[in-house]
Amino acid sequence: MKVLVHINDAERWQEALATRLPEAEIFTSAAPADKRREADYLAAWKPPATLLREPVALKGIVNLGAGVDALLNNPGLPANVPIVKLRDAGMAQPIGDYVRYGLLHFQRDFDRYRRQQHARQWREHAPLDKADWPVGVLGLGAIGARVAAMIAADGFPVHGWSRSPKTLPGIHCHHGDAGLEALLGRVKSLVLLLPDTPATRHIIDAEALARLPEGASLINPGRGTLIDEAALLAALGNSAAEGRLRGALLDAFPEEPLPAASPLWSHPRVWVTPHMAGPTPLEAALDQVAEALRAFESGEPLDAVDPTAGY
Ligand code: GLV
Repeated sequence: MKVLVHINDAERWQEALATRLPEAEIFTSAAPADKRREADYLAAWKPPATLLREPVALKGIVNLGAGVDALLNNPGLPANVPIVKLRDAGMAQPIGDYVRYGLLHFQRDFDRYRRQQHARQWREHAPLDKADWPVGVLGLGAIGARVAAMIAADGFPVHGWSRSPKTLPGIHCHHGDAGLEALLGRVKSLVLLLPDTPATRHIIDAEALARLPEGASLINPGRGTLIDEAALLAALGNSAAEGRLRGALLDAFPEEPLPAASPLWSHPRVWVTPHMAGPTPLEAALDQVAEALRAFESGEPLDAVDPTAGY
């Protein structure tokens, strides 16, 4: 099989994949156009449309990340070519740590202490116990379910939400529109780990934000399109004094890099990170890539992406 690899640092991926698939011919998008056209499979992260159009008889695509939104929205995506994506592949642990950082930030009042420090103010706040800090996790896919389990193990009561019913040990699972409303009304921090699909776009709008209890906080290591940014800014209020929404830790934005003119950069209660919550670890990811390519080749049933659902 011939595999075309496209990602930052593609040579490293190419070499490491070659050790796992000695039977394959693996080349990167730097290979000559004739070679690229021969590819049976494409293993790629955010390939340009022109590259997607090149292979003449593509049999499968491996998305080198968890979110397939960029690929599904790519105008060069060929129709009817099955897509497999990375499922967790080691990103859940760093994303869980990112969420833990965010939860402790608010639960232990680090946001307040930072402001107090600037005012040289020495004042202790009695923290609420973790058991009194319910957390909502929207999205219970491979990553969301693992993150929910991690923070439940830390002692936070966790309410998870997915479109269709799920049962996860130790998590209060909710589903559907009514389940979302119920969850929003009872959480002190809301974590977004949904995929970007037409059904999830702006799921956190003014109405959803209004359902959160006063003083709730938002942590988004998922996708920027999940949030209606104007509604978020309105719920935060524009001063350092806490608004209805206490603060937001944001790693993903509808446009990345976040434009310099975005009011989020300078908002006193917003923390911006540059889509760093869930780096794809090469080794674990390559095990999944090799497995997917072998399954494609042998015609085994694949856990393929459903392009209509968007994940
Ligand atoms: C990163 O955002 C990914 O989808 O893997």
